[in-house]
Amino acid sequence: MKIFLDTAKVEEIRRASSWGVVDGVTTNPSLLARAGRADVETAIREIASLVQGPISVEVISNTAEGMVEEARRFASWKLNTAVKIPMTEEGLKAVRMLAAEGIKTNVTLVFSVPQALLAAKAGASFVSPFVGRLDDVGQEGMELVRDLARIFTHYGFSTEIIAASIRHPMHVVEAARAGAHIATVPFSVLTRMLQHPLTDVGIQRFLEDWERLQAQVPSAAGAAKV
Ligand code: G3P
Repeated sequence: MKIFLDTAKVEEIRRASSWGVVDGVTTNPSLLARAGRADVETAIREIASLVQGPISVEVISNTAEGMVEEARRFASWKLNTAVKIPMTEEGLKAVRMLAAEGIKTNVTLVFSVPQALLAAKAGASFVSPFVGRLDDVGQEGMELVRDLARIFTHYGFSTEIIAASIRHPMHVVEAARAGAHIATVPFSVLTRMLQHPLTDVGIQRFLEDWERLQAQVPSAAGAAKV
């Protein structure tokens, strides 16, 4: 399963990509606002210098024509972008037009199997079911990912499933079990994925034992001085 970073904060992307685990990045207007990045092109160029994988950039138009115009502008940057399109009637029209032009799309704000099926049929490169937001309203978000993985495999859709709105490490584990192609993960969740209290305790014990050993056995350097 691929891991995308769900952030527009360049410092977070720089740090996580130095670990060798970032396959792509997803942004949205809220994440750009949180990062204080009003100049979207500059932000995306900085991100593209750090990660090879696709970077999702979201349109803000609500008509198919407007979305396609924005998407063409993103494509003119000649970076590895995927255009995030909201799951609406106009969005589907835009996805179909962009697929014909070979522009990658990520259909976002997907909350049901029927929505995802339509997005895949229209030619979306990615669909983003929002797991955490479904959990928030008392519906099991991961059930949607499981269903989509089964259905897309059965019918051979090439659309990749991005488990989005990920809130904690177990969401990532469940997304992998469910067969998501990708989980897009906030930096705080990625950080928690690498931590385990037993790792910290283990390191501490190894160091203490090593220091105890040094205190008992004269070091080679110490012995040479005598
Ligand atoms: O990838 C979608 C994500 O940014 C939404 O997450 O936590 O706002 O539901 P959240």
